[in-house]
Amino acid sequence: MDLSGKVAVVTGAGRGLGRAYAEALAAAGAAVVVNDVNAEAAAEVAGAIRASGGRAAVVAGAVGGSELADRLVAAAEEFGRLDVLVTNAGILRDRVLWKMSDEDFDAVVDVHLRGTFTCARAAAVRMREQGTGGRLILISSPAGQRGNFGQTNYAAAKAGIVAMARTWAMELARADITVNAVVPVAATEMTRTIPAFAPILEEAERTGTPFPEWLRKDEGLGTVEDVAALIVYLASDASAGVTGQAIGIGGDRLALWSHPSEKAVAFADGGWTADTIAASWEKGVGAEPETYGIPAPRVPEA
Ligand SMILES: NC(=O)c1ccc[n+]([C@@H]2O[C@H](COP(=O)([O-])OP(=O)(O)OC[C@H]3O[C@@H](n4cnc5c(N)ncnc54)[C@H](O)[C@@H]3O)[C@@H](O)[C@H]2O)c1
Repeated sequence: MDLSGKVAVVTGAGRGLGRAYAEALAAAGAAVVVNDVNAEAAAEVAGAIRASGGRAAVVAGAVGGSELADRLVAAAEEFGRLDVLVTNAGILRDRVLWKMSDEDFDAVVDVHLRGTFTCARAAAVRMREQGTGGRLILISSPAGQRGNFGQTNYAAAKAGIVAMARTWAMELARADITVNAVVPVAATEMTRTIPAFAPILEEAERTGTPFPEWLRKDEGLGTVEDVAALIVYLASDASAGVTGQAIGIGGDRLALWSHPSEKAVAFADGGWTADTIAASWEKGVGAEPETYGIPAPRVPEA
């Protein structure tokens, strides 16, 4: 993939997946604006990109408000234009519902949902002015598609991000700006906190062995570079016809998430009553209820 001449912004690019996205986009030829709330980490990534012959600028600061979003676009303009935005910055504040504070809720919604909104809005304004299309790549999560224990704030924000991708895909189609949500899974500081995976990831790291095949295929969990391949594809001209999609990637797995739709429908002439719903539910539209929540990882017996 050749991204030379293109300019990309990646938020939360100081480590983990964001760093891999920034480095892969730069390796493919794009100039990259590296953002992170951790200024040192962002500077290090930009330095590494430049050391490998790429072009990079740093915008340190916390994604959330419009001021930072405007700074990201201004930094891209220093390279002459803006073609690609990857909204990746994120945090976790996991608690069960009855223990989740207002602060836990607001902090996660602010970075993920509001941050995606403010950055995408600033980028869309710039891309529409440019008139040569563009790419908005929004980072979601399996938690947003399914719900996840302890992740009220995160699941809500990540589900909202997919809803925004589908909305913006409609709104920006005429401007040739594609908008897709990516549903990644990869070994990072974030996934290391999942108890079922922690010992396996530590073992692989300690011994320098690759992740086991069941982890890469069944759980779709691999390296950050595995996910970066999809970001480069979505940033490229090759993905011009792809918009409004939620695309999963991790390890050896690439997947298209379905759009929610009515799975079972029944009609009652003149409308339903609580009694007629109760009488028909189990054999009617409720006959095959949907699952909810991310299934627990199936770790094979040693
Ligand atoms: N790792 C996974 O398997 C996984 C799965 C689903 C979704 N995701 C999503 O992918 C993204 C990256 O995850 P990761 O695993 O690399 O996480 P990470 O914690 O390793 O990295 C996140 C980066 O974002 C930065 N950051 C946090 N808040 C910020 C803010 N307000 N402004 C700018 N930067 C900020 C952090 O400093 C850090 O460098 C997140 O949006 C996460 O929700 C990750």
